Amino acid sequence: MSHDSNMLEQHDLAYEVQAGGSLCGEIRVPGDKSISHRSIMLGSLADGVTHVDGFLEGEDSLCTLQAFRDMGVQIERPSAGRVVIHGVGMHGLQAPAKPLYLGNSGTSMRLLAGQHFSTVLTGDSSLSKRPMKRVAEPLKTMGAKLTLQPGGLCPIQIEPAKLKGIDYHMPIASAQVKSCLMLASLYAEGETHLAEPAPCRDHTERMLQGFGYKVDVKGSEIRVRGGGSLKACDIDVPADISSAAFFLVGASICPGAELTLRHVGINPTRIGVINILQAMGADIQLLREYVAGGEPVADIQVRHAPLRGIAIPEDQVPLAIDEFPALFIAAACAEGTTILSGAEELRVKESDRIQTMANGLAVLGVKHEVKPDGIVIQGFGGKGKFGSGTIDSHGDHRIAMSFTMASLRASGPLIILDCNNVATSFPDFAELVQRCGIPLAQRHD
Ligand code: S3P
Repeated sequence: MSHDSNMLEQHDLAYEVQAGGSLCGEIRVPGDKSISHRSIMLGSLADGVTHVDGFLEGEDSLCTLQAFRDMGVQIERPSAGRVVIHGVGMHGLQAPAKPLYLGNSGTSMRLLAGQHFSTVLTGDSSLSKRPMKRVAEPLKTMGAKLTLQPGGLCPIQIEPAKLKGIDYHMPIASAQVKSCLMLASLYAEGETHLAEPAPCRDHTERMLQGFGYKVDVKGSEIRVRGGGSLKACDIDVPADISSAAFFLVGASICPGAELTLRHVGINPTRIGVINILQAMGADIQLLREYVAGGEPVADIQVRHAPLRGIAIPEDQVPLAIDEFPALFIAAACAEGTTILSGAEELRVKESDRIQTMANGLAVLGVKHEVKPDGIVIQGFGGKGKFGSGTIDSHGDHRIAMSFTMASLRASGPLIILDCNNVATSFPDFAELVQRCGIPLAQRHD
């Protein structure tokens, strides 16, 4: 990843996907993005050498890796998916010579905002539109010195400051906000107490404990005391359930499909997509459940099944927050109506995912009604199909991959524009779907 890649944002990759593909076989999707980011962050701050296996070599997690190299951490990449981090200890980071460029990655930026070295955090045009006040405000209450751009946007200027623990009831269920404050609390005087409004991904809590740091979790309450240290450890990153989600949906909607997905993370705070698809009638089986590196993992088998529309329970929203673009494709193929509410957070992801998906569904002839906090989708049911046409992903990786799966039930070819950012989370997506039976061609306009 070049430091200057913000100068060279590319929008020209399109997918041309023919209808009539299939999905069969046994695959392993790339490593979990959230866990990959955190492995670099905690490994860098630890005493000793951390070995990571299954690391996601996508642009987002590589931005985090490069940022820590820029702060003086020696990080090796001996072979595919393997990373060796020579931790510098809690106080060993050096202020970088240049602004840290974090590309498209909200997780890199929001989690790094909790550090207190002197630097500037910047990102690409999508990241530069995303809200940063959600981390800046509680950090300022801790004593942090941060300056945002007008409108609460990045670049974020950080100056060294002395932090103190706070008592904070989080207004939104955001793992990025929670994790940012937990990382800041490691440096704060006294205890930080966080209360979450609803459960959201807990990889930071789990990984801190894996690095020997005491985190007290009781229900929705988290307590962390500053001043401790991290001990290096080995991390086995499971395959990302958010990447597996496209295949869970694709196989569910495609007659004759049958897929096995190996070594997928099934952390209870991430399995909303499985819960929702099963409630819609999907045939998804967990074949073998085990624990790897403090995270629950399984092989997952999915076969085609008729789906029915449901009212998605609001408590599942934070547990499936990244999977809604794929779930909208499933909803379109279901018999009856699917209703999503309580999901306004989707409007501030890599794109406004409610509107971007609605625009694409409209192109393909799917009836729907957009709501401020969700969408109502009228499924076309068992015998129905998507139309064909050109869809703009607006540079949002998950939108591009979701519409790729729609091709499995389309009546003609789909052209999906602005697909470069698929490389942020799933660098080999095009090759893998081709291997499973989807006729996808990549076109550089
Ligand atoms: C993430 C948290 C979620 C998710 C993002 C990754 C993380 O964001 O959408 O892709 O790694 O903590 P929010 O915290 O904004 O919900």
